[in-house]
Amino acid sequence: MKAAYIRGYGGSDKVEIGDVDRPVASPGQVLIKMKAASVNPIDWKTVKGDLKALFKPPFPLLLGSDGAGIVEQVGTGVSRFKVGDEVFFRCHKTDTGTFAQYFAVSADLVALKPKNMSFEQAASIPLVGLTSTQSLDEKAGMVAGSKVLIHAGAGGVGTFAIQYAKAKGAYVATTASKKRNELLTQLGADEIIDYHSTNVEDVLQDYDIVLDTLGETVHGASYKTLKKGGVLVSVLGIPDNEVIADYGANFIVKFVAKLHNRKMQKRAASYDAVYKHHLMYADGKQLADIAKLIEAGKIKAIIDSTFPLDQVAAAFERSMTGRVQGKIIITIED
Ligand SMILES: NC(=O)c1ccc[n+]([C@@H]2O[C@H](COP(=O)([O-])OP(=O)(O)OC[C@H]3O[C@@H](n4cnc5c(N)ncnc54)[C@H](OP(=O)(O)O)[C@@H]3O)[C@@H](O)[C@H]2O)c1
Repeated sequence: MKAAYIRGYGGSDKVEIGDVDRPVASPGQVLIKMKAASVNPIDWKTVKGDLKALFKPPFPLLLGSDGAGIVEQVGTGVSRFKVGDEVFFRCHKTDTGTFAQYFAVSADLVALKPKNMSFEQAASIPLVGLTSTQSLDEKAGMVAGSKVLIHAGAGGVGTFAIQYAKAKGAYVATTASKKRNELLTQLGADEIIDYHSTNVEDVLQDYDIVLDTLGETVHGASYKTLKKGGVLVSVLGIPDNEVIADYGANFIVKFVAKLHNRKMQKRAASYDAVYKHHLMYADGKQLADIAKLIEAGKIKAIIDSTFPLDQVAAAFERSMTGRVQGKIIITIED
């Protein structure tokens, strides 16, 4: 089968498309005939070697973190799915390879594709959807009426997170360039702050939650928008000590992470706020809940552009610009 992979770290020119063995479904797995997958910044960060302090994957390393397709084979012990089911999923974080014609994945990580979405649309959802729901619910404790600031509202995570927070009854402010106003208004954002001309701390006060998709440079200003005890959840930077340990990182990495995380907590405390990091995890049941919201018409797919499988490198180049509106999709032919 055709797949995208790298044989060493570097730029997008390291991405190769070639023939690799087609996987089979092991016990507990389903084999999926892939129809579409989405590009996430983690894919090209992996190519650059940004994760090598955390884990050292064997080469060739297959690329792609989520997607949608049709169940081709069902492993022993799987009763939730049958051949022909249309599904979507996020793979386990160290077992990538969805930019391929087939992918075998634990059935626990898979959910039926929302009926009202194409494969391309469904493929845009899993990684950013789970990131948003886990960050806002599990880490930040969002409830109806929470005031939530979502940074980079026009990006992959932002476009999902805004819709999800609104579906759950939150009041949502977001940062974006002016040209994104029309889209973000359609998605339900209550306040849109043009980050080129306005400082968030000058216009937002007493927020409960900040979802940081940009990194440490926005933390100081973001803390000033929070009420006492408010939570900033960051999806960038160094993960929690437990997550680092789970990757099997060595003691030096664990030590550096511990120091960094202590510094981040202290900084948050100086603003009477709370800092949390979130690294998303795959979960088929949570994805099924997201599918229900999509079928209820509460969440739409926002697609920036689509590229065929043999143009993964070009898709990475587009993602690396940081100017994407919604998601980039890789389409996969038979
Ligand atoms: N920890 C996790 O589990 C996890 C999960 C998912 C993603 N992430 C990380 O989260 C980050 C965001 O991911 P993504 O997929 O949403 O990225 P993305 O789609 O590439 O984000 C692009 C968007 O960011 C906006 N943007 C850039 N600079 C901005 C600024 N200063 N203020 C406001 N908006 C700005 C751009 O809008 P304009 O062009 O209008 O500026 C563009 O729409 C990535 O670094 C990714 O690796 C982490």
